[in-house]
Amino acid sequence: MGLPQRVKIVEVGPRDGLQNEPQLVPAAVKVALIDRLGQAGLKAIEATAFVSPKWVPQMGDAAEVMASLPRRPNVTYPVLVPNLKGFEQALAAGVGEIAVFGAASEAFSQKNINCSIAESLERFRPVAEAARSHNIRVRGYVSCVLGCPYQGEVRPAAVAEVAARLLEMGCYEVSLGDTIGVGTPASVARMLDAVALLVPVERLAGHYHDTWGMALANIYASLEMDVAVFDASVAGLGGCPYAAGASGNVATEDVVYLLHGLGIETGIDLERLVDAGAYICAELGRAPSSKVARAVLAKRAKA
Ligand code: HMG
Ligand code: MG
Repeated sequence: MGLPQRVKIVEVGPRDGLQNEPQLVPAAVKVALIDRLGQAGLKAIEATAFVSPKWVPQMGDAAEVMASLPRRPNVTYPVLVPNLKGFEQALAAGVGEIAVFGAASEAFSQKNINCSIAESLERFRPVAEAARSHNIRVRGYVSCVLGCPYQGEVRPAAVAEVAARLLEMGCYEVSLGDTIGVGTPASVARMLDAVALLVPVERLAGHYHDTWGMALANIYASLEMDVAVFDASVAGLGGCPYAAGASGNVATEDVVYLLHGLGIETGIDLERLVDAGAYICAELGRAPSSKVARAVLAKRAKA
């Protein structure tokens, strides 16, 4: 089976990564990280989230980050928006793209955004309409596509249903999140088969957390099913504040190494990406959890 020739990586470290780091990172450091990611060739960098700072204090500086972010040509800086209030703030910050985020699990929806799945979709609809009227692109997320920390199993048909509703309301792409990283290539294939009945594969992205070490295998399984967009987090930063035990997203460095090894173009310079990861890890006082980053840094130290 042929794999895609080119893959788009959506870098989510500054948002999904940093929202789950225990310490608050200054806005200037976030901006410097985002700029380094742009230098490395990433074309979509999720910059922050206009959510309640009571729920996610790490994203409380969203307006400040967006105000001081140098925008590169041909790079998008999407932001998470849960409701109209967040949309108004994102609009005032001059964003060109937002992401709404729902879940395939009722229990997770309640814990994450304090409403049912149906209520969340009703809440996103006016957000998507407002975005359209301002020429702002909307991406959709579905969380817990392969399992939920509260309710356990999640039916593939439930994932498909939410993904289809997000597409109907105008999302140009739907990112399928294995929030707690429990999926395996077999469950990924079952889930994608179900979703592909309702949503064309070219509109899907894979968002895999690496909690159980399966993320790269799950990406490979998704590539075999023609998925060509993946979310990843530099240095493997992050997790999810409402999904206990969810370690970071798959590390961008590891995904880039895999894709380049398969002869798939990404437009990303791995060395510069490792620099970006090393920068934020030095700020956080931790080592990158990316094995590729660690290997590159070790090689550099020896040279
Ligand atoms: P709520 O408490 O039900 O909201 O929270 P509310 O409308 O009753 O408002 C309560 C307070 O929040 C009010 O302030 C509002 O003004 C304020 P108060 O009067 O108490 O001072 N508020 C806001 N403030 C700033 N920005 C806003 C906003 N909206 C209301 N947009 C709400 C509902 C959705 C706001 C809340 O639950 C929330 O912000 N949740 C965000 C949770 C979150 O960010 N989770 C992480 C992102 S999702 C994720 O990581 C998964 C993903 O990576 C994919 C995957 O891995 O699966 C995407
Ligand atoms: Mg996530």
